[in-house]
Amino acid sequence: MILSEIIGRVGVIRLNRPEVMNALCDRLMADLGAQLLAYDADPAVGAMVITGSDKAFAAGADIKEMKDRTFPETLLHDFIAPWETILQVKKPVIAAVAGVALGGGCELAMMTDFILAADNAKFGQPEINLGVIPGAGGTQRLTRALGKARSMEMILTGRLMGAEEALAAHLVARVVPLADLQAEALKTAEKIASLSPVAVQMAKKAVNLAFESHLSEGVRSERVLFLSLFGTKHQQEGMAAFVEKRKARFE
Ligand code: HXC
Repeated sequence: MILSEIIGRVGVIRLNRPEVMNALCDRLMADLGAQLLAYDADPAVGAMVITGSDKAFAAGADIKEMKDRTFPETLLHDFIAPWETILQVKKPVIAAVAGVALGGGCELAMMTDFILAADNAKFGQPEINLGVIPGAGGTQRLTRALGKARSMEMILTGRLMGAEEALAAHLVARVVPLADLQAEALKTAEKIASLSPVAVQMAKKAVNLAFESHLSEGVRSERVLFLSLFGTKHQQEGMAAFVEKRKARFE
């Protein structure tokens, strides 16, 4: 249900259930989580890309698998917990989104570090049409990205948002033509993978702190992370290379 390959220093994971618009079933999410952890542990990988097809990043959780679940059963077996494996990943993960990223698909994209969108991308949380609400962080992450008014409108009406609107609303980092999406995602991930892995992981941690702490606490933690980098060879190499007017080598 996923296809994985390492290109250069980038671990690329393609969601692969084209017959159901990459609906996210339990097995796909387990495979995705396992592959993310494997790439996180693999020194040959410096960054990751999750992508889908030209038509669908993912059309949400698999409704056919989910529809007969009951409350007691889901309490005992939390089928959403494996979705959060991605939050344990220390290396950067980019979502390269073409086509629909709906419901759990939008939530998965928002759990990556940032989203690159093709010009045909469509984002939305249409769960309200199914008589439910987002369940994998959508009400929280969409609201942090879009602000209350837009997030409320999207979640209460189930309206979809195109790529340009998503860019203006700060949901995505960049929009590129569909034909360029894969190359742009790889280039961006490869750039990150070429940098100091220690600094990259600390940068990711520090930015994430902005969403999980108060400002003063976040700034204090950032300071500790920043200063701790002065214990690394990469800080010495990066700054020496600047002064010596040469390209840094982060080995
Ligand atoms: C299961 C799905 C699916 C889904 C599409 N399919 N989305 N199957 N779960 N989420 C299947 C369809 O049943 C159909 O298979 C095939 O994919 C093609 O879909 P069509 O509807 O025929 O295609 P199209 O007309 O192009 O419409 C595409 C679409 C639409 C706009 C993406 O399929 C759609 O609205 N899908 C549901 C989107 C949604 O509500 N997502 C939120 C899910 S809830 P068959 O075999 O029937 O022809 C959720 C909660 C997450 O994500 C909470 C955390 C776990």
